[in-house]
Amino acid sequence: MGSTDQAKAKLEGVIYQLYPPSFKDSNGDGWGDLGGMLAQVEYLAELGISAVWIGPICDSPMEDNGYDIRDYYKIHDAYGTMEQLEELIAKLHEHDIKLMMDLVLNHTSDEHSWFEQSRSSKTNPYRDYYIWQPPSSNGEPPNNWRSFSEDSAWEWEEETGEYYLHIFDKKQPDLNWENKKMREELYTMINFWLDKGVDGFRLDAINMISKHPDFPDAPDDARHPKGQQFYKNGPKIHEFLQELHEATFGRVPGTLTLGEAPTVTMDEVILYTAPERKELDMVLQMEMIRIGKDYGHPWKNDPHWSPELLKESIVRWYKNVFGKGAYALYLNTHDHPRMIGTLFGDVSEIGGAEGKALNVAAAKAIGTFLHTLPGTPIVYQGEELGMPNADYDHPDQYRDKGTLSAYHRRIQAGESEKEILASFHARSRDGARSPMHWTGGEYAGFSEVEPWIPMSPQGKEFNAEAERSDPHSVFHHYRRLIQFRRESPILTKGDLDMLPIEEEWILAYTRTYEQETWLIILNFSDQPQTCLIDAKWSFVWEEGECLISHPKADVLTHSVFSKKEDPIKVDLLPYQSLVYRKR
Ligand code: GLC
Repeated sequence: MGSTDQAKAKLEGVIYQLYPPSFKDSNGDGWGDLGGMLAQVEYLAELGISAVWIGPICDSPMEDNGYDIRDYYKIHDAYGTMEQLEELIAKLHEHDIKLMMDLVLNHTSDEHSWFEQSRSSKTNPYRDYYIWQPPSSNGEPPNNWRSFSEDSAWEWEEETGEYYLHIFDKKQPDLNWENKKMREELYTMINFWLDKGVDGFRLDAINMISKHPDFPDAPDDARHPKGQQFYKNGPKIHEFLQELHEATFGRVPGTLTLGEAPTVTMDEVILYTAPERKELDMVLQMEMIRIGKDYGHPWKNDPHWSPELLKESIVRWYKNVFGKGAYALYLNTHDHPRMIGTLFGDVSEIGGAEGKALNVAAAKAIGTFLHTLPGTPIVYQGEELGMPNADYDHPDQYRDKGTLSAYHRRIQAGESEKEILASFHARSRDGARSPMHWTGGEYAGFSEVEPWIPMSPQGKEFNAEAERSDPHSVFHHYRRLIQFRRESPILTKGDLDMLPIEEEWILAYTRTYEQETWLIILNFSDQPQTCLIDAKWSFVWEEGECLISHPKADVLTHSVFSKKEDPIKVDLLPYQSLVYRKR
């Protein structure tokens, strides 16, 4: 493979994101665990994925569900034991599935022994493992940077008279990557996991590890959190990543690395992932999942949101990055409400058979979209079942610390509870964190006891047991798409053409590779729609094969397209997905 092809296809397959607390509980404490993952390896194998990214499972006080690590070498008790992890790696390997761990290298928990030493005195050898600064001349924090929770990014420590930096919560102090000894300790730790047989890593907040050495005040601009331009993609980021690669991943050929790099520019993605630079394999394209979300009302009728923005983002990334660097795409993850609510509104609200049918069609349209674009797809647990977003209707049902502190802040500022909860449906991370639906039974077969976070009030019928035995389910639709992705180089390497379609809610595009062309048409609306397509594409369906047509499989193939016109009129059902292949 040339380096361009290598950059396009870091993985000829699909990554599955598993959120450990909510995947499957095996020991009856209401919290997901390794025993539960072990019990569901066959499920993952049946789905056909190539790699599974497991959220953080190291020992942690769980202030941020494991993104606050207390001990990098120990499995968190509630998840199980090191032996179980080893067993899981072996079992996944039997099915040719890679295991990717979540690697949190920007910060630790404040309960990590390094930080306990660091905060104990200014002369402690671990002091410099974290970022300490004296107060500014007027006794205030060293600068005006804000953390993700919207408070100052600096926390005062009375004992030693200095502030420490925490870009996230104050329980998550930032590590000081300028300290070589600290970096080397991290590399030793990563090599420990590589030696265990871990196949890859998702690197949390990895573009934040290099801070501006002067810690300047940030100007008053629209950026939230304030100050991020001074710690994202900082001055030494590439030097640090190259050193990290050489000391760890580079030792074990085939190790797969995926960086989380919020608000990274496309030029930077190329620098992070161009194969010859030896930094990371892929960076998450986080733009699509965020579209509309900053406005707090990303629902379908939001004036700030439309599929046009999606199309624009896809094309821009394809033109600027594809083939030069590599990126992974997701439409669902543990940090955002589920896309089925965001893109399509709450279709399950319609209720009954009609609501269910629309939910199925909408979920299939999301899957078809994700798997036919350039970029490695990541499927988030439950998405492959069409699980709706968990729209909790009481503040007590939320668990995410960020959501809860936003709630109290906004109540104090005089907002109504109704207003706040409505915006949480659109923004809270808990919407995607409700337990996985394994069966239609109590607690959806996730656990025998009440789970740590309430079950989703909606969508019990979207569960693995029912869908595995139904060939028309969302699950089997995803299986097919994942299989296409593994078998068809056109999806990993092919060129993209976005067709100019006037109707806002329709997306039509082609992928082309060597002699093959695929045509994909998606109706992202709950209404029937008609669009016009240039007749030059008619050869794809006239001489080609219909791979996907949902809903109403075979009826459409002939009745939809009238060959005599130019442009050709295409009638689409609500949320219809069509995929044609011409070899
Ligand atoms: C990443 C994780 C998120 C976590 C944060 C801090 O963005 O995806 O869940 O809260 O990093 O580690």
